[in-house]
Amino acid sequence: MRKPIVAGNWKMYKTFDEAVDFVEEIQQAIPSPEKVDAVICAPALYLPTLVVAAEDSSLAIGAQNMHFEDEGAFTGEISPAMLSNINVDYVILGHSERRELFNETDEAVNKKVRAALNHGIVPIICCGETLEEREAGSTESKVAGQMTKALEGFSAAEVEHMVIAYEPIWAIGTGKTATADDANAVCGSIRAVVVNLYGKDTAEKVRIQYGGSVKPENIEELLAKEHIDGALVGGASLQPASFMKLLEAAA
Ligand code: G3H
Repeated sequence: MRKPIVAGNWKMYKTFDEAVDFVEEIQQAIPSPEKVDAVICAPALYLPTLVVAAEDSSLAIGAQNMHFEDEGAFTGEISPAMLSNINVDYVILGHSERRELFNETDEAVNKKVRAALNHGIVPIICCGETLEEREAGSTESKVAGQMTKALEGFSAAEVEHMVIAYEPIWAIGTGKTATADDANAVCGSIRAVVVNLYGKDTAEKVRIQYGGSVKPENIEELLAKEHIDGALVGGASLQPASFMKLLEAAA
């Protein structure tokens, strides 16, 4: 039985004050950590403050990206060592917006996953297809290729603690959600990739989220599916009431 994980990805939204108010408002009302893992992935600038604001609760704080090197002449970048030093628990890696808008490659994602694990940060590794790829029938080969590269070179023990997020690009921020059956089929195909690479026991432990226009109205149907273990949520994670409804539905 895999514990659900609901992660809000705030992207480049919210002022600092709004972010702090949000965490202070919800932190004592988070459902039991035995029932659901709750994560907010905030803009990097806010992370140290939010980690402290959430420290007496079971809400975990995550980053939305990081470099794979611990330090160096990489202007504007943030390292895994910096994130672990301020007790950030999760990091989103390979989000389609990073891949498409900032030219992030599968190789870079793989290095970032390695770096996250080296620093005790749980990676949320994203994959997903474009509308053209879906219409061409290549969804499963696209996500299999992305995940095979992202998961190269780890031990089974490392892989079982990772989180994978399947996010069809055409469903992100568009209001179009994949049907629960379609999302489950792709998440199942991702689990099959993990079976091939690391064996059934490991694949049964890896949590796979669905992301793409998840909201309180559709999360229950998605999470009822065999291979969907949580949600990576953009827009519907921005308001405390909506985020809490997502957590309650998952708990
Ligand atoms: O990381 C989150 C996803 O990009 C989904 O965003 O819930 O606004 O569609 P959305």
